[in-house]
Amino acid sequence: MLIRDATRSDFGRINEIYNWTLVDNHVSFDTEPFDLESRSAWWDDRHPDLTCLVGEDDGTVVGVTYSTFYRPKLGYRSTMETTIVLDDACRGKGFGTVLLGALLDRLTEQGVHLAVAIVALPNDASVSLHRKLGYSEVGILHEVGTKLGQYWDTMLLERRCGSDPSLRGST
Ligand SMILES: CC(C)(COP(=O)(O)OP(=O)(O)OC[C@H]1O[C@@H](n2cnc3c(N)ncnc32)[C@H](O)[C@@H]1OP(=O)(O)O)[C@@H](O)C(=O)NCCC(=O)NCCS
Repeated sequence: MLIRDATRSDFGRINEIYNWTLVDNHVSFDTEPFDLESRSAWWDDRHPDLTCLVGEDDGTVVGVTYSTFYRPKLGYRSTMETTIVLDDACRGKGFGTVLLGALLDRLTEQGVHLAVAIVALPNDASVSLHRKLGYSEVGILHEVGTKLGQYWDTMLLERRCGSDPSLRGST
């Protein structure tokens, strides 16, 4: 898998991959599919400290992973939430391990202290992937999200990135 920073030219393919999470499942609590315009607005809103990587297989983008600030307040800047989605046809082949691993390496280089992931349950593949990459379960929020006419639980997982507990973003 070739991993590189995403560019605007990837928006169409990112949307094809990501929009799967919106339709008839609880993987994300987004409800409106992204089009080029809304993806562009999402991109433009992102802070320059944030990372978005894509993974290519045979020249085709098959996965996307990105960081977002865990909370907007400056005192949380040392913590990033990570998100990953792969093309339906490319799951269970180790791509997720490689792609999310690359994002974690990048976050470590950037001096990020803690990565967190929030997984809507059930999602065995996602929980396994995060545990494999060193995330540990912090706890479960019960019935925190609604979609498809029901409540869903989410699992919060955390993973320490840097060994140096720098006060990145500290006020
Ligand atoms: C979650 C996701 C990114 C995992 O990526 P992946 O490439 O399928 O995972 P990998 O092949 O790298 O496998 C990682 C680990 O998870 C395990 N795993 C993969 N699919 C699994 C499944 N369906 N059930 C249980 N475990 C699974 C693998 O066995 C592996 O562990 P191991 O090496 O100890 O055996 C991918 O399945 C996906 O895009 N799913 C839909 C979107 C999503 O749920 N994103 C996460 C939102 S929180």
